[in-house]
Amino acid sequence: MKESQKSKVKSQKLKKGIFISFEGIEGTGKTTQARLLSERLIEEGYEVILTQEPGGTVIGKRIRNILLQPDHQEMSYLTELLLYNADRVQHLKEKILSSIEEGKIVITDRFSDSTLAYQGYGRGIDISLIKSIDGIATGGFKPHVTVLFDLDVETGFKRNRGINKIDRLELEDIEFHKKVREGYLKIAELEPDRVKVVDAATGIEDVMKGVWEIMSWHLRIL
Ligand code: TMP
Repeated sequence: MKESQKSKVKSQKLKKGIFISFEGIEGTGKTTQARLLSERLIEEGYEVILTQEPGGTVIGKRIRNILLQPDHQEMSYLTELLLYNADRVQHLKEKILSSIEEGKIVITDRFSDSTLAYQGYGRGIDISLIKSIDGIATGGFKPHVTVLFDLDVETGFKRNRGINKIDRLELEDIEFHKKVREGYLKIAELEPDRVKVVDAATGIEDVMKGVWEIMSWHLRIL
């Protein structure tokens, strides 16, 4: 939207901010959907912060680099777990908490559920250890709503190959990613009030519609 158009939009003030996370395996299109939702909310007059994990801060970008370098094959699973959490601490402190306090809508492309799905269900690290480290990193702060973009692993892989995206975790085999997907679905089953599943196999417009339905419901109740 152009600057001149922005001033015509009635600004929508929220008493309290809303924290939304987008989750899913590789190739679901969640990053595009996060951008589209952010644009739609801005058009409706909301103040929006679009961010990501890992890498939502300057320090986080450095941590992301360490985490995703394809040649860091020797990284231990525990190092990986702690680095994702370190990134999250910085992200919350520098960006998320203050924005929520100011009444903004924060959309993050990945948050704690990624750690549970990838390091927990994918790598096989004990789930209770993951949850206790998450408690230290987040102090129990969770998204108001999480949109889980669900897609079969083979389709996700094909989509990613199309855009030539390769990082260290994407180099893992198909079995790893299947465990991650199953993990996500389990999280959704355990927390149905917070985690809403959207079928990411349909077209971009249909997925967007599904996301908007979830979002508008939350804008009404929060
Ligand atoms: P992205 O490509 O969606 O930005 O995510 C970066 C990679 O990091 C992706 O393969 C998922 C992975 N990841 C974890 O394994 N654990 C986490 O806690 C997070 C946030 C991401």
